[in-house]
Amino acid sequence: MARILDEVSRTFSEYLLIPGLTTGEHQPRNVSTSAPLGRFKSGETSRLSLNTPFVTSSMQSVSGSDMAIALARLGGLSFIFCSQPIEQQKQMIHRVKTHKAGFVASDSNLRPDNTLRDAIALKKYTGHSTMPVTDDGSKNGKFLGIITDKDFWEFEDDLNAPVSDFMTERDNVVYGEFGITLHEANVLLQNQKKECLPILDNDGRLHSLVFKKDYVDHMNNPAELLDNKKRLVVGAGINTHDYKERVPVLMEEEVDAFCIDSSDGYSEYQKEAALWIRQQYGDTVVIGGGNVVNGDAFRYLAEQAKVDFVKVGIGGGSICITREQKGIGRGQASALMAVTAERDRYFKETGIYIPVCSDGGLANDTQIIIALAMGADFVMMGRYFAMTNESPTPRVSIGGRIYKPYWGEGSNRARNWQRYSLGEGDNSFKFEEGVDAYVPVVGSVKDVVDVTVTKLKSTMCNIGSLTLSEFAEKAVLTRISEQSFVEGGTSNVVSLDKDLPREV
Ligand code: IMP
Repeated sequence: MARILDEVSRTFSEYLLIPGLTTGEHQPRNVSTSAPLGRFKSGETSRLSLNTPFVTSSMQSVSGSDMAIALARLGGLSFIFCSQPIEQQKQMIHRVKTHKAGFVASDSNLRPDNTLRDAIALKKYTGHSTMPVTDDGSKNGKFLGIITDKDFWEFEDDLNAPVSDFMTERDNVVYGEFGITLHEANVLLQNQKKECLPILDNDGRLHSLVFKKDYVDHMNNPAELLDNKKRLVVGAGINTHDYKERVPVLMEEEVDAFCIDSSDGYSEYQKEAALWIRQQYGDTVVIGGGNVVNGDAFRYLAEQAKVDFVKVGIGGGSICITREQKGIGRGQASALMAVTAERDRYFKETGIYIPVCSDGGLANDTQIIIALAMGADFVMMGRYFAMTNESPTPRVSIGGRIYKPYWGEGSNRARNWQRYSLGEGDNSFKFEEGVDAYVPVVGSVKDVVDVTVTKLKSTMCNIGSLTLSEFAEKAVLTRISEQSFVEGGTSNVVSLDKDLPREV
């Protein structure tokens, strides 16, 4: 006979945190929001950690290269969506990995006999105004000089003249020799008062460029998440169907983490996929599994599949109709607490810590904070990121307001049958588990993440904690009644937001 759990399934909005003692050291500037991504042994640290505990959902309407670049620069991580051809997903990862971080391959190159008109066209095409000139116009050709838009006047000079007449010739260019460190390159830029430093190899071929603006940018984004080659860190969603083809191709780009993207991760298919990747690539890449909603499923993925992190959540996503369609799922708060409790037991027994990610259904900043207080090491969000400028969807004006489309991976639009079907072969799409919707545009990823992190740090100080693990350890939560929920919003006042008509 079916067993019925004693506990009612609960959501984040049913809880509030009770403040703990705040002392002088509990100030936002002392707070770290770093979170482990990979499993680690007691006394050791994770081989990959986030600086900001947010990751993007592996979804067509959320996670492209622009999102991955923007979020990694803020210390979080994106999982580039896998419901696309392998080569296309690889290209997106390639874009992130080559984005910048010190030594950049030059993407705007000219031959000496190219005309000024060619230079202007190239600048328009790439958006870059510094263009090295090499013998064959390739990014690693023999370096002859450099031309920028400051070297000519578009409306005065003869646009048919060769760039060699206008470029700064190699003998007059300050350059670095291949092998120089990034620090040395930046010192050279500073001492020589230059904006760009070409790096040349022993044969005088162009290797890369170092820009002052990248240094400034880096200093403005201290949480930036970089790999050991100083490239942005990026993840990829994968499925349990074509991983033997997909994973090797994505590994060519040295992707940092995989997330096996499945609506129900308590399966042998996940175990087989995770073990296969581990066998091929060892610990060079982080492997996450999920989604699950109970302790047994966590233990299965931790022990049998040996995944690095476990993702929690079935049916809570904003565009999700899995619970309605199939009758599976669990209130996200209950699911998360069941799994984090099992994670803690597992850690006590084995000394191995497996990070847990709360995925889906986070409707506002408070719920993100509650999820982290309940022991999630980091959170995955779709809607939150879909609303930003960097999501890969076009802006649409509806009734005078700007929106972006946001659709579930289980919707007819995405047709990501791999996420929703089990095993091999079942590649038909018989019913939807997600909807096609719109979300309002709220600004850049940086705008929204900065606000959320500021609130998070402030709450962590209220609880008397300086790290996320201390936050979860010290957190005391209370369940709230419907009446106190009402009291939690504005009450007994006329709200500008809710009660008064607004101009559109
Ligand atoms: P959100 O942050 O509430 O928008 O939820 C995003 C999460 O919903 C994703 O990370 C997935 O786990 C899940 N998801 C994505 N597409 C679908 C779908 O079509 N049906 C059900 N869940 C989905």
